[in-house]
Amino acid sequence: MRITTRPIEGQKPGTSGLRKKTRIFEQSPYLENFVQAIIDASGGAAGRSYVVGGDGRYFCDRAVQVILKMLAANGAHRVIVGQGGLLSTPAASHLIRLHGADGGFILSASHNPGGPDGDFGVKFNIANGGPAPESLTAKIHDRTQEIDSYCIADLPDLDLMRPGKTGLGGMSVDIIDPVADYADLMQCLFDFDAIRAMFASGIRMAFDAMHAITGPYAREIFENRLGAGPGVVMNARPLPDFGGGHPDPNPAHAKDLMDRMSGPDAPDFGAASDGDGDRNMILGRGIYVSPSDSLAVLAANAHLVPAMAGGLRGVARSMPTSRAVDHVARALGIECHETPTGWKFFGNLLDAGRVRLCGEESFGTGGDHVREKDGLWAVLFWLNILAARRQSVTEIMRDHWQRFGRTWYSRHDYEGLDVDLANRIMDRLRSLLPRLAGQTFGAMTVVEADEFAYTDPVDGSVSSGQGNRITLTGGARIVLRLSGTGTEGAILRLYLERHEDTPENLDQPVQEALANVIAAAEDIAQIRAISGRSAPDVVT
Ligand code: G6P
Ligand code: ZN
Repeated sequence: MRITTRPIEGQKPGTSGLRKKTRIFEQSPYLENFVQAIIDASGGAAGRSYVVGGDGRYFCDRAVQVILKMLAANGAHRVIVGQGGLLSTPAASHLIRLHGADGGFILSASHNPGGPDGDFGVKFNIANGGPAPESLTAKIHDRTQEIDSYCIADLPDLDLMRPGKTGLGGMSVDIIDPVADYADLMQCLFDFDAIRAMFASGIRMAFDAMHAITGPYAREIFENRLGAGPGVVMNARPLPDFGGGHPDPNPAHAKDLMDRMSGPDAPDFGAASDGDGDRNMILGRGIYVSPSDSLAVLAANAHLVPAMAGGLRGVARSMPTSRAVDHVARALGIECHETPTGWKFFGNLLDAGRVRLCGEESFGTGGDHVREKDGLWAVLFWLNILAARRQSVTEIMRDHWQRFGRTWYSRHDYEGLDVDLANRIMDRLRSLLPRLAGQTFGAMTVVEADEFAYTDPVDGSVSSGQGNRITLTGGARIVLRLSGTGTEGAILRLYLERHEDTPENLDQPVQEALANVIAAAEDIAQIRAISGRSAPDVVT
């Protein structure tokens, strides 16, 4: 049936789909309007097939039912849905590709907390399995501003716990095991025999699923298929509120894992993933691998992984990600692309075969096997390297820094800022950029400064206003941008890095190694002075 509606303000997809407070999404027709706008803006659902699933956060179960009924009413031919409405983001991307679906609806607010007081989100992925490009998200937003009706089938909820084929109105629905196809894909990409042998030889790992979607995936892959031992997966049971936690795999939020990895009986390798399974954090015994370094290590060791044995051709990183991988790309003689923040910008490069490995400082790493970043894939990539090199994470990192130099890197986040104030800081810096080159701030001199704009080398599309970059002498760089994923106030992210070709003291604390860059950033951008904050809220 067709229901009359009115446009709702603010339904503008951000870095990764539309994210809002759960309470907003719960108020009908908030979800209905947005889903209908997606359907309309992407050319209608008639005769098409889709993948639907989410990370199991509060409201996912109800939202899946609404989307299924709307797809049925809009004439969709077939929907593949994970049992219980569950699918990790990379598994959803894989299923879209595997079944040649026309698109997918992923219900998640990624690493943001869930629950009635937390966040919810809807993301639309296109037929290549990747997030909708900006051209489509802009159309979706336009459509939300003029929508006057939506279609929904007046039918009872489907029992999504029962796997198998069923139907909803004239639409066929396949309820599938959310884990099996994904685990099979991983098994054909990596050397499972070598990893299994490594575990059999006594190497121990811990994986923190943070009560989010990767629990069942990690159990099947690490415990059942790789014999990593029972209890390897911590916080394995997905919970609608993630157990009250913040499912973001970083040193601040993955506290259980950090404690375990620094304890007296620490395993050799530790890892974690986020709410919807696309992020990852990598740890060794007593060592944290920054996401930017992780990308560089994967690039340098890709030849050890069966799926990448043929070479990489190219790699890509988002602009604020450190340039550690650039040094590897140069040494390997392969392309290295710098894209705006957001996984969607890697899609064209991957589709065109220009790159096979991508990564972001925001704990995202992925390859050309799907069109999303992929947390468990990154963990398996590391395990494959550990098994092939028979070295510890610390040994691998030290060797990497000796070979390629070390890019010291840190991100300082100022959270919950007043939006106008944050814009004022950004605008002020933007106006300074043209005059910065040649100026000296403490020990650092500016080489060049600009606002990042990206021209996609495949389709020529231009994305401007992607953050302020300041390159300094001594291989240093300062980047400042506003987060595109928050749901309240503004978050200012300050990214700091400095490269040393022959690092003298690898044990120096990162903040100390970056002290001159941090001081120059404050001199130039005056974040603390203008905001009145004495320090960042989160340092990673
Ligand atoms: C999501 C996207 C990533 C992106 C990140 C940045 O996780 O999937 O591709 O790097 O958001 O978030 P920010 O809050 O910095 O905009
Ligand atoms: Zn995520």
